[in-house]
Order: sequence, then C-alpha cells, then structure tokens
Amino acid sequence: MKSDIKLIDSKGKRLDGRKFDELRKIKIEAGVLHRAEGSCYLEWGENKILAAVYGPREAIPKHTQNPLRAIVKARYNMAAFSVEDRKRPGPDRRSREISKVISEALENIILTEKYPRASIDVNIEVLDAEAGTRCAGLTAAGVALADAGIPMKDIPASCAAGKIEDQVVLDLGKEEDNYGNADLPIAISPRSGEVLLLQMDGHLTEDEFNKALNLAINGCKIVSDIQKKALLDKYQPALEVD
Ligand code: CDP
Repeated sequence: MKSDIKLIDSKGKRLDGRKFDELRKIKIEAGVLHRAEGSCYLEWGENKILAAVYGPREAIPKHTQNPLRAIVKARYNMAAFSVEDRKRPGPDRRSREISKVISEALENIILTEKYPRASIDVNIEVLDAEAGTRCAGLTAAGVALADAGIPMKDIPASCAAGKIEDQVVLDLGKEEDNYGNADLPIAISPRSGEVLLLQMDGHLTEDEFNKALNLAINGCKIVSDIQKKALLDKYQPALEVD
C-alpha cells in the first residue's frame, strides 16, 4: 500500500527511532500460569502474548494419534480486544494459517518420537497486537515448551525482517507493516541454524531476500538470548539452592 507517511527519516531513523537492524523492546517471563505444564508471557514492542503448553497427553480423538510420535497442536488466537477494530471471536482463515505454520515449525524441533500417540498442545493467546504476532507467538511458545520440560533439539526463536522505503530492515512495526513493501517472518533453531518457518508477504529481489534473511537470522539469535535469560531467571535461583 502506498502512503505519504515517511517510514525512514533523512538520518536513517525509523518512526520509533530504531536503526535498520534494531529489534523492538522484548520482555519475556517464563512460568506465569500454574495450571499449564509450561507457560510464558511475552511483550514485544506493543505486542502482548501468553503461551501455555499442555501435555504430552493422550491424543483425543483416538484417530488423530500417531503410533510413532506425538502430534503438536498449536492454536493461535487473537483476543477480540487485541486489535484496533474489534476482532470477531473464534478462528478465521488467518489464525488457522498461523496455527498451522507454528505447529509445523514446532513439530520439527520437538523430539516427538519420545511420545507416541500423545498430543502436545500449545495455546498462543494474543492479548495486544501490533504487527509481528506470529513471530512473537512462536517465540513465546518456545519458552513455554522449555518451561514444560518438553524435550527439543533447541528452543525455537523467531523474528521478521522486511523492506520499507526500499531498505531492508529488522522487525517491522505496525505502520511499517501496513505501508512497507515486504515482510519476511522466519523461525530458526538457533544452534544449528535450521529454518523452521519462512513466509513472505510482498516482493523482494534475490539480493534483498538474502539481506533480509541474514538480518532476520541475526534477529533470531538476539531473541534466543532473551529467551534463555528468561528461563535462567526462573530456574537459576532453584538451582543455586540445591
Ligand atoms: O501479526 P503478524 O505480523 O504475524 O501477521 P499479519 O497477518 O501480517 O498481521 C499484521 C498485523 O495486523 C497484526 O499483528 C495486527 O496488529 C494487525 N491485524 C489487525 O489489526 N486485525 C486483524 N484481524 C489481523 C491483524
């Protein structure tokens, strides 16, 4: 969408003062819900997200069971009050798509073969949305899964890069998402660098795509450090007592 809004000023600063390779402020807290096996509250810019993990438990209905591995059911949901125009409650095309891509990303990092016939359920509730909620939701899910003690190859980290005013930048904010040229959300396994999710909205040249991908991978590594710190903040005090 074209607009008269200037997304980058003459000094290279973005609308919220960030440089091209800066993330919005991220705050993560692990283990916030006592009924869930594992949980996480995450703020990413103005996004506010809760993730809760239940299971592994017997998959129901039975015909959904896989005799060789657990199934991973991520459910991304936006609260009616999370967006500017009230969102009609319940699943829609967009939330089904996001649930599907997040489920597939998590299936590729969780050691699902350890839990045949089981289901691992991951609920992602978006309380406040301001662009980049699938990345923020997947990042929160990673922390909640680790908090639940679900064995994984690594803790998945997610982040997007995009293009605004013909420049490749990290982590688009709301106006940048609305009026920018492209958005490239990814998720990786930070240690191996394996890509777990990659989507693209808009157009990028091959060169811009490579730049955006590298920027997003670096962003994921920063996100990964914040995830690990949140888990250490919760578990280190207990380790020190032992
Ligand atoms: O949130 P994400 O960037 O992963 O997905 P999107 O489909 O690109 O949506 C971008 C943003 O549009 C969301 O983060 C919300 O802020 C907003 N949105 C909205 O206002 N109303 C909706 N029904 C869906 C999204």
